[in-house]
Amino acid sequence: MEILKIENLSKVYGKGETAVTALDNVSFSVKKGEFVAIIGPSGSGKSTLLHMLGGVDRPTSGKVLVDNTDIYNLNETQLAIFRRRQIGLIYQFYNLIPVLTVEENITLPILLDEHKVDQKQFDDIVKILNLHSRLNHLPNQLSGGQQQRVSIGRALISNPAIMLADEPTGNLDSKNSGEIIDLLKMFNKTFNQTLLVITHDERIALQADRVIVIEDGRIAKDEVIRP
Ligand SMILES: Nc1ncnc2c1ncn2[C@@H]1O[C@H](COP(=O)(O)OP(=O)(O)OP(=O)(O)O)[C@@H](O)[C@H]1O
Ligand SMILES: [Mg+2]
Repeated sequence: MEILKIENLSKVYGKGETAVTALDNVSFSVKKGEFVAIIGPSGSGKSTLLHMLGGVDRPTSGKVLVDNTDIYNLNETQLAIFRRRQIGLIYQFYNLIPVLTVEENITLPILLDEHKVDQKQFDDIVKILNLHSRLNHLPNQLSGGQQQRVSIGRALISNPAIMLADEPTGNLDSKNSGEIIDLLKMFNKTFNQTLLVITHDERIALQADRVIVIEDGRIAKDEVIRP
């Protein structure tokens, strides 16, 4: 089943002489549960693509269908709700809220939705991420690997269908990097969560089911490694 369908997606930043075409008519689909690595040179459009898929920023033209919903047909409020419930986003520099504790950072998407936190689910996530002894700490009291585990927790708490990670290990040493990828893979395999990871690390790309190469805002190569 196709969970994600991208049709003729383009993104142009700016206007006139300074306009930059970051994405140029990109189309592809992703199956539910697939683990896709996205690679390509700096400035090729990888982060732009991920932002378009996650409903973070609107494309200039083209469509993004998530579970058959055309997400850019939604109004801003609907799009914000879609993003919170369906998409887990992980960044290189964690993007945690500095004044909130680990527990508050993880549960934030649920509280923003005015829902009640499922205590068992929260406990399970904290256990898997090995954060139980850090729940009342602030982000700046944590190591890089721990901060990234918190951001994974925050991304997982609403059980999103799709996890989007933009160089999630770009700021970590190889041990922490391996742990983070193993966690993402575990959620991908165990819960059939669709996983798209931008990476410059070949070892990570080789663990994916499929590798998409972006060059100059276009798909230069799209290769299934594990059918
Ligand atoms: N907000 C913006 N305004 C103007 N241009 C932008 C903006 N964001 C990105 N760009 C341009 O779009 C192009 C693609 O950028 P993008 O961040 O998607 O690249 P990337 O593949 O993620 O690169 P990197 O590997 O360095 O993270 C670049 O030329 C960049 O300068
Ligand atoms: Mg980028």
